[in-house]
Amino acid sequence: MQEIHIHDKIFIPYLPQQQVEAAIQELADTISRDYKGRHPLFIAILNGSFMFAAELFKRLSIPAEICFIKLASYKGTTSAGHVITSVGLDTEIKDRHVIILEDILDTGKTLHSFLPQLYNMQPASLKIAALLHKPDATVHDVPLDYNGFKIPDKFVVGFGLDYNGYGRNIPAIYQVKE
Ligand code: IMP
Ligand code: MG
Repeated sequence: MQEIHIHDKIFIPYLPQQQVEAAIQELADTISRDYKGRHPLFIAILNGSFMFAAELFKRLSIPAEICFIKLASYKGTTSAGHVITSVGLDTEIKDRHVIILEDILDTGKTLHSFLPQLYNMQPASLKIAALLHKPDATVHDVPLDYNGFKIPDKFVVGFGLDYNGYGRNIPAIYQVKE
């Protein structure tokens, strides 16, 4: 494997495809065990999580549903600043066992703003799965229940993650070269 160029940056191989897929298989096995008989509803947050969601979902050995949503962030009129709303949440989540799928948990800002809205919809339970987690970037603590890899606070692309729109199709994780 070698360096790749995206826009003005160079990225170097970090997590090979096999390793990423093995970690996802393990997550799928664990979730299948934990949710046996509970018919969970996965909510994948677009765009970044589409590849993780597909790879995880096809490896589940239990009946489950999935829906895909987009989070739109805009400047609110309150002092709270950014307000996050979801687009495309068309499945009733009341009394459902919900698992959020994220590509990466970085500062935690996105989920920190969005989780209260989900709790308001009264799911039976709510857990979070993220393929990647940057613990050193944490600004808001978000409980992470299932995680593939803890990684340093460096920008990564591939497996659905992008740098200004590009790099999502790379079937492995690449890290920015500094
Ligand atoms: P948070 O709100 O800071 O946790 O941001 C999470 C979102 O930022 C992720 O869902 C990604 O879309 C994006 N993001 C954070 N770090 C990276 C990265 O290293 N590469 C690509 N996207 C990232
Ligand atoms: Mg994202």
